[in-house]
Amino acid sequence: MTDIKARTADYGLGPYTYPRGWFVVAESSELDEGAMALRYFGREYAMYRGESGRVVILDAFCKHMGTHLARSTSAHIVTSAQQIEGDSIRCPYHAWKYGADGQLEEIPYQPGVCPASAALRSHPVRELMGCILMWFDPEEGEPDFEPPYLPAWDRPDAIHWQLDHLGEVPVHQVEILDNMTDVHHLGPTHGSPCEYFENEFRDTLVIQRQGGFLAPYQAHLDTVTWYTGPGILLSKQTFNGVEMYELIANTPVADGLTRAWHAVLSFAQGNPASAADIDNARQAQAGALAAFSADFEVWKHKAPAIKVMQTRNDGHFNIQRKWVSQFYMPAAEARKVQEEINGVLPVAEFPQPSRAGRDAGFEDDCFQLMGD
Ligand code: FES
Ligand SMILES: [Fe+2]
Repeated sequence: MTDIKARTADYGLGPYTYPRGWFVVAESSELDEGAMALRYFGREYAMYRGESGRVVILDAFCKHMGTHLARSTSAHIVTSAQQIEGDSIRCPYHAWKYGADGQLEEIPYQPGVCPASAALRSHPVRELMGCILMWFDPEEGEPDFEPPYLPAWDRPDAIHWQLDHLGEVPVHQVEILDNMTDVHHLGPTHGSPCEYFENEFRDTLVIQRQGGFLAPYQAHLDTVTWYTGPGILLSKQTFNGVEMYELIANTPVADGLTRAWHAVLSFAQGNPASAADIDNARQAQAGALAAFSADFEVWKHKAPAIKVMQTRNDGHFNIQRKWVSQFYMPAAEARKVQEEINGVLPVAEFPQPSRAGRDAGFEDDCFQLMGD
């Protein structure tokens, strides 16, 4: 068991242990093998793809006798591929059948009996950009915002990513999110000290705009990076004039334990993409992963920063954490936090206008939500 170093209550983020929002729980391709067990937010879930193609996430434990719906590899109905029926799933123990909405639909040996009290909770799911996303809400409410989407994903020259699975790291999610305002780690950790930097807080979005010279590559890097809720980061980057998009996803597994994924979307020179284009795209992802891994390694071994010993020229960690706190409190109270912190916030050292002010159009395809 990984040692948990600090929990939500230690950081004083809010009354709920786990935050509201959209979270990556798997890569789409992982669902090719039948039902899959998930462990997130200190809970167990069963996920499967129905015959219509729809992805379903249910609370994991059958109401009959508590069997985990997705942790049997040896039950007959699993090995004979009879567990999924339409968009419903059968329990491996006595084959009670649950629908995609979590309602009990059939007890095979007790016709006509389907107690409503046997229903399992079914969780909102979206599948996009090769990822399966789940809406988590401690109040069990419906989503009040949609997950982010990159219009560039649909470009004919886009080379779609495969996720890097980084596994679990014993750091609280809030310290991963600290990165958004952490202007002074970019030089020492990534080799690209900022020439400009700002944050913007916009309701459920936090945005970072920065750029500088990337010494290891002798190239200029400009980035616009945004979290949509606390779980999903997207970043538009130009690197020596070449454009790419990065994904970093982080999802609480337990209180103080976080799972992370990473990927890069880049573009082919030719159409269709050549083997060299695909190789370049994989190399771009590997390069970005190396940069992200430098953060990851710090997080893995650091002591908790329950409070940051903040200097005047540090980023606004306190405001960043306030933004995070909106997801750890009742949804009805989040607006108050948003109204308090919404707006552009330069850091003390770089009060000049950001790239957004100098380069109109760069952000036109950023900050989109699914269905926009
Ligand atoms: S425990 Fe699930 S059907 Fe009996
Ligand atoms: Fe970083």
